[in-house]
Amino acid sequence: MSIRRLPPELINRIAAGEVVERPASALKELVENALDAGAAQVAVRLSAGGLELIEVADDGRGMSPAELRLALERHATSKLPDDSIDRVTSFGFRGEALPSIASVSRLSIESRVRGSDGWRIAVDHGEPAGEGPAALPPGTRVAIAGLFDKVPARRKFLRSPRAEYAACLDAVKRLAMARSDVGFALDHDGRRILTLQPSDAPARVAALLSHELDRHGVGIDCARDGLRLTGVISLPTFNRGMADQQYLFVNSRPVKDRLLVGALRAAYRDLIARDRHPIAALFVEVPLEDVDVNVHPAKTEVRFRDPAAVRGLIVGGLRRALDEESQRSAAREQAAAPVMWTTSATYDAALNRHPRESTGPSAVQGSGIAAFAGMTGVAEEQRLFDHAPAGRAESATEAVPSYPLGVARGQVAATYIVAEAEDGLVIVDQHAAHERLVLERMRAAREGGAITRQVLLIPEVVELEEPDCDRLEGAAADLAELGLEIERFGPGAILARAYPAALGKTDVAGLLADLAAEIAELGGPLSLRDKLDHVAATIACHGSVRAGRILSVAEMNALLREMEVTPRSGQCNHGRPTWVKLGHGEIEKLFGRR
Ligand SMILES: Nc1ncnc2c1ncn2[C@@H]1O[C@H](COP(=O)(O)OP(=O)(O)OP(=O)(O)O)[C@@H](O)[C@H]1O
Ligand SMILES: [Mg+2]
Repeated sequence: MSIRRLPPELINRIAAGEVVERPASALKELVENALDAGAAQVAVRLSAGGLELIEVADDGRGMSPAELRLALERHATSKLPDDSIDRVTSFGFRGEALPSIASVSRLSIESRVRGSDGWRIAVDHGEPAGEGPAALPPGTRVAIAGLFDKVPARRKFLRSPRAEYAACLDAVKRLAMARSDVGFALDHDGRRILTLQPSDAPARVAALLSHELDRHGVGIDCARDGLRLTGVISLPTFNRGMADQQYLFVNSRPVKDRLLVGALRAAYRDLIARDRHPIAALFVEVPLEDVDVNVHPAKTEVRFRDPAAVRGLIVGGLRRALDEESQRSAAREQAAAPVMWTTSATYDAALNRHPRESTGPSAVQGSGIAAFAGMTGVAEEQRLFDHAPAGRAESATEAVPSYPLGVARGQVAATYIVAEAEDGLVIVDQHAAHERLVLERMRAAREGGAITRQVLLIPEVVELEEPDCDRLEGAAADLAELGLEIERFGPGAILARAYPAALGKTDVAGLLADLAAEIAELGGPLSLRDKLDHVAATIACHGSVRAGRILSVAEMNALLREMEVTPRSGQCNHGRPTWVKLGHGEIEKLFGRR
């Protein structure tokens, strides 16, 4: 075995593998350099998603010819003047981005310091390719052409120009959000994509995130123990199928940090379905000495001295903001509701098509429970509106006490409760609402240390796959805290002895199977409390009144009263509203009285 020192060329190519993964990462390095150079304006031009050309021009401080040459050398940086790697305020500090990129592309840098002439240096895959005077305004312009053209191993992993463009756009957006005081322009294949004037953070975020966030967003601003968190997040009801609109920053540095992403998820736990994602732009400010930015070659991850404090600030801060907004969220859903309401015109048309079904709106008004009692045993599997009209109601003569959600007047499609409030008509999704109540009940009981269990007279043996049994067995102690008592019963079975009383009668086998899947998925570094919350949500779903169950008027009113006093009852565990209200004014509008 002979040990040898690698030639600088090879070292640069190896570094390029870590720093530059695709056009977007090269672009990110160039824009960061421009920002570090004190640019007030950064202009980006791309061709074919950056596969053909990436060009970044800035009006920053520029480099002299000597500095230009040095900039292309490995480990040459102007950003650590005093060797203190633990107090980094610039984006760059490793001094390896330019030489790495230059080793896998054709790179040209032109630069001019104010008051002197410009200079240009070209490098072709690590080899000098000429230098000389250049004419340009003060600042720097870097162009990268043919990235990875001669590196087949890398080229293979590049995606279509479209996909690479999307990643480049994302990189620019993240840096533009990080530095709202700087103006940005982005052109792709000759088309202007973005023009951003210097502004403040909220305006910049608003310009780059979905405009809907004006109506569906919650502003965040909180601080604790020297940490500060600001930004905006979407209401749980305004979510996406992908986690692509989550912008996280630590001390103005865009990061894709697992701790932060996890904390964001945890804040929305049980407010949003597992496969849905909130939109967020969150800025964490931490004292410089409490965060290490030197843990990742592309600098997209950081390490906190006190991760628990950061996580606590985020989960706590967001949760509080969301709780405060939860009532408002339901109110906004109401605003959207009238469009979906059938007006008499469409109602008449429907009536003419089915003259024999013309029980009309009076079905909800006067007919007693008895009249439709025979039709109530509807199987759950049936589609919602396959139900025969089964609206039943209380007489509407009595005064309406001032309950926010009103008094139950009837039930529609064996799924929705119709209630009359002082200020309008309320419709409640009974399953969604009940699921939420069960969850909040379990949570309250747990916090008060008073979970009541339903002990099974004959313990139930549930057969499951061995890994599922292992998972449940491993979580037995946590589950016991929720009132679910299980133990291992041979390799492929679990014995259930008791379950949370909050559930009522329940299908234990189905519950255990769901829980095993849930635990498998949660696997990650969640705190016990988060896990329990999540598991509790799954349990709650099992214990809830299904759509399709006929409720008595007393049951309906009990549900409404409990909703009124239960926190977060305006949303189901998946982030959908549990109720909508049609105000008197809106009813009048529907009838053209306003
Ligand atoms: N647009 C620019 N304007 C002015 N100087 C620049 C510019 N781009 C690079 N430089 C100079 O070149 C040096 C090397 O840049 P390079 O990106 O390779 O390393 P870095 O930014 O110091 O660290 P990192 O590798 O972490 O990005 C910088 O330290 C800076 O002095
Ligand atoms: Mg750099």
